[in-house]
Amino acid sequence: MASLEKLFEPIKINKLEVNNRICYAPTGKSHCTEDGHVSDQAICYYVARAKGGTGLIIVEAALPIAKYARFGRLLGCWDDSQLAGLRNLAEAIHAAGARVVVQETLGFGSQAMFPVGGEVVGPSDVPSRIGKGTAPRGLGFMDGAVGVPPRPLTKEEIIELEDSFAGGAERIMKAGFDGLEVHGCHGYLIAGFLSPYSNKRQDEYGGSFENRLRLAKNLLKKTRDKVGPDFVIGFRMSGDEHLEGGYNIEEGQKIAKELEEAGANYIHISSGRYEVWNRMLPDEEGTMLDDAKAIKQAVSIPVICPNIHDPRTGERAIKEGMTDMIALSRGLIADPAWANKAKAGKLDEIRRCVLCNTCLKTLFTGFSIRCAVNPEVGWERFIPEYYPPIKRK
Ligand SMILES: Cc1cc2nc3c(=O)[nH]c(=O)nc-3n(C[C@H](O)[C@H](O)[C@H](O)COP(=O)(O)O)c2cc1C
Repeated sequence: MASLEKLFEPIKINKLEVNNRICYAPTGKSHCTEDGHVSDQAICYYVARAKGGTGLIIVEAALPIAKYARFGRLLGCWDDSQLAGLRNLAEAIHAAGARVVVQETLGFGSQAMFPVGGEVVGPSDVPSRIGKGTAPRGLGFMDGAVGVPPRPLTKEEIIELEDSFAGGAERIMKAGFDGLEVHGCHGYLIAGFLSPYSNKRQDEYGGSFENRLRLAKNLLKKTRDKVGPDFVIGFRMSGDEHLEGGYNIEEGQKIAKELEEAGANYIHISSGRYEVWNRMLPDEEGTMLDDAKAIKQAVSIPVICPNIHDPRTGERAIKEGMTDMIALSRGLIADPAWANKAKAGKLDEIRRCVLCNTCLKTLFTGFSIRCAVNPEVGWERFIPEYYPPIKRK
């Protein structure tokens, strides 16, 4: 039996103890209501992954402001009416045995390419272009697509976004989550500001390296002021944009270092942006490990690396110091009990993701996600095994 002791070693993030190194990577599923409220389906989906032994659940991207382009059924933290559902979600995941943070986003920015309503805004008017030949497997119908040029945000609008982010963070904390993760990857709005490819501004939010980081650092500062020192604040960034005109891994290391100094408690890497889409959703596992290793060399806070599908790859990566934790999106869609099966040494029983991207294809065509190998996806609310554990006195 393969020894997987590193994968099941506990880890501390800020003050939070997580009992293993396995994270559920944030994954939009279109399981929420049209106005951003948590649904029973969303709760049962996450409970299944928590009961399955995942140490840290990173809940899909939640929006703190509903003003700009978004698609329906995206999670919201922009209104107090959303608090009750968020609280139910936090309680249910905790009761099922996992720690939980929520990924918070300022929206798609130029990457608003799929069915969205609302105005497309960004740092500058550079539209997204899905590079020819880079659409991941199953998503060829989007190859070469060009997005709407975003309207550049005014300084006042950027400050409003920063304040709304901190307000959303306060709701996430009030609801009982252990922390939040800033969505700063994939060329979405926050990442759009970090990148020289999409940020052509001439004011204090663009131009120099320091100015491109201003939005991210202000978000960390304003959020920390609201949530206090103990709440976990992670930051997800593309380690390397792998795009001409974007930032490379050396600049990625500098960004990560700055984010650590600005108060981030962990760095969760991803790779690329829609312009090089298969970097974000690779057709094979382990492709982000070199970037993770480079980022890990630049910071002293924990690093999380996604795109791990085989537990032995995760174990090796942690053992060799390439990452501190691993994250799975598609692997945990395919099998919610991935972690428990790995722990029990039942690697052959893991229902492996076949990297067909049916999940993303269903999402991008306006539906909630489905999975080619796991017929339970989308129906967890009807499966008693996945109900939240209720302790009756
Ligand atoms: C259906 C779907 C939705 C996703 N939604 C998000 C999201 O909300 N936020 C995010 O940062 N990444 C998102 N991702 C990217 C994943 O978190 C992950 O980085 C990527 O799928 C590669 O890891 P994997 O090989 O484990 O799937 C999504 C991926 C998929 C397949």
